[in-house]
Amino acid sequence: MNQDDMKRAVARAALDEIVPGAILGVGTGSTVNFLIELLAQRRDDIPGAVSSSEASTERLKAIGIPVLELNEVDHIPVYIDGADEVTPQGFMTKGGGGALTREKIIASASDRFVCIVDQSKLVNQLGAFPLPVEVIPMAEALITRSLAKRGGTPATREGFITDNGNLIIDTTGLSIEDPVAFEQSLTAEPGVVTCGTFALTPAHRILVAAPEGTRTIDC
Ligand code: 5RP
Repeated sequence: MNQDDMKRAVARAALDEIVPGAILGVGTGSTVNFLIELLAQRRDDIPGAVSSSEASTERLKAIGIPVLELNEVDHIPVYIDGADEVTPQGFMTKGGGGALTREKIIASASDRFVCIVDQSKLVNQLGAFPLPVEVIPMAEALITRSLAKRGGTPATREGFITDNGNLIIDTTGLSIEDPVAFEQSLTAEPGVVTCGTFALTPAHRILVAAPEGTRTIDC
């Protein structure tokens, strides 16, 4: 079973998390793309979706699922998204696809976050995956210096502008021992839109695909 097979398997398992008749929160990335393909079979159960990126919006529309603005929706029981790293406690690093800000907003607006990953993403401590931080362009140098002071090696993602018109700075070498304190401190810096540490909006359930099957971790 290769990584794509595992992503497809975990996407299939996530179909059981859908609440029929309710708005679904939909994340971004290659694992979620497999989920969106499968949602075509569940169109009648899904009156609409709130999407975390222009890319997912296009895919949802292509299979005939109406995409609503978050401002039009008052209840999202479940948000399903991938992650770049996730701990058994539900703390995640996200933003490899650059959609972290909208992802965090929808996660915060949803009752439950179901994280779908293959086993390579499950870690005991966050920090091996370079941390994405979305920054307002005028703060690029300021935040780059700050991330270096925190012990990391920051680099602006080349040729990439987020759906919100901002930059992403990816930082390697950070050791994130207390994800809640780290997220609170970094997101408090003026110029930071958000960071890819999801500790204040953790996953409630993780579906982990492995060659021997998909297992569930309730956080
Ligand atoms: C996008 C994300 C994705 O969830 C994360 O990058 C995982 O992506 P993939 O499913 O392609 O491995 O946070 O901003």
